[in-house]
Amino acid sequence: MKLIIASNNRHKISEIKSMLGVRFETVWGMAEAGLELEVDEDRDTLEGNAQKKAEEVFALADSMGLLESGDAVLADDTGLLVDALNGAPGVRSARYATDGHDDAANRRKLLEALDGVPMEERGAHFATAMALVRKDAPMIRATGRVYGRIINEERGEMGFGYDSLFLYEPAGLTFAEMTADEKNGVSHRRNALALVLAALESE
Ligand code: IMP
Repeated sequence: MKLIIASNNRHKISEIKSMLGVRFETVWGMAEAGLELEVDEDRDTLEGNAQKKAEEVFALADSMGLLESGDAVLADDTGLLVDALNGAPGVRSARYATDGHDDAANRRKLLEALDGVPMEERGAHFATAMALVRKDAPMIRATGRVYGRIINEERGEMGFGYDSLFLYEPAGLTFAEMTADEKNGVSHRRNALALVLAALESE
């Protein structure tokens, strides 16, 4: 069976590919599948955006004859929710600082927004909403989370997005200081994907 990951984000695609195991014989990102589509992420929840992305990419892939019975499209919409900011940037995480998608500007804006906030009030969590849309089978949806703290300067070179500001306290490391395997063992994305895979296995 084939899985198309409804994303052009190479970090996301690589994390999902390495966590998938052997459930699908072929796993493609959108570029590998030859799909070009800019989905407007205009829903007001991560779950709504994940479902919209999965459905639109599924429709395009299906119209191109790429999908056989059982094949699937998986979308991931992720946000960082900071307690002291009432859950911001949340569903707006990608476009927090600018209308484009500028991770460095987003991190700077987050540090500014939390300037002066003491460490004990800097709790935050990542949430990943996933939607798996399948040919000839019902959709599966799940949300995974991981809890941590936003530190006051960047640490680490690995990962992407907000990883260098997100302290995963059990390890005493930011996600950008953890190897891909370490992050993938505990992350929001892993927790969402584990729920999706469990739902598939239980059918
Ligand atoms: P989206 O899911 O692609 O819309 O991502 C939303 C925002 O969160 C973007 O700014 C991403 O860079 C960031 N992001 C997504 N996943 C992660 C992650 O695993 N770690 C850190 N930042 C992430």
